[in-house]
Amino acid sequence: MSKRNKRVCPVERASGLDNLFRKWIHNPDKILGDYIKEGMVVLDVGCGPGFFSVEIAKMVGKSGKVIAVDLQEGMLEKLKNKIQGSEIEKRIELHKCETDKIGISTNLDFVLAFYMVHEVPDLETFLEEIQSILKPDGTFFIIEPSFHVSKQAFEETIDKAVAIGFKHIKRPRVFLSRAAVLRK
Ligand SMILES: C[S@@+](CC[C@H](N)C(=O)[O-])C[C@H]1O[C@@H](n2cnc3c(N)ncnc32)[C@H](O)[C@@H]1O
Repeated sequence: MSKRNKRVCPVERASGLDNLFRKWIHNPDKILGDYIKEGMVVLDVGCGPGFFSVEIAKMVGKSGKVIAVDLQEGMLEKLKNKIQGSEIEKRIELHKCETDKIGISTNLDFVLAFYMVHEVPDLETFLEEIQSILKPDGTFFIIEPSFHVSKQAFEETIDKAVAIGFKHIKRPRVFLSRAAVLRK
């Protein structure tokens, strides 16, 4: 079994996750546009400063919702400040979770876990919780940084997800990343 690096990305590094350069290398429309539609309820787990949460809120429109979850209050605070007073503020629900418990019960259409799964200490518990809060046929998109997560470690994650019942759908190409789309 490969070694998992479980250090949590500190709030001081948030600007590295949310800037114009990121938009260029990780264009949210290109990465998520095939999956996220108007009216969907989407979980952005490990949302950090909300680079993806904000763009997803635009994609789901007025009738949709984004639940932006992080275990660090400081990350949620950054996202809160960014959306305050904006049109999308009402579409984004902020939720502080525990390390081993997301703690929401909504029926989700789509879950995004971007560059966070390798930081989760108990992978099996995490995957089982995601499975339990997804709608039947809901989609789970895992994207991990190839500079932190080896091919072996990524495959172990996907194997675990498949072992608990996720169906493996696709391996999209994402710059500097390893990515897999799974379905409940
Ligand atoms: C590298 S950042 C990625 C942030 C964001 N997804 C992005 O791509 O910009 C990882 C984030 O996951 C959060 N995180 C780590 N472990 C977590 C856990 N067990 N539950 C929820 N969030 C977690 C960290 O606090 C951090 O904000």
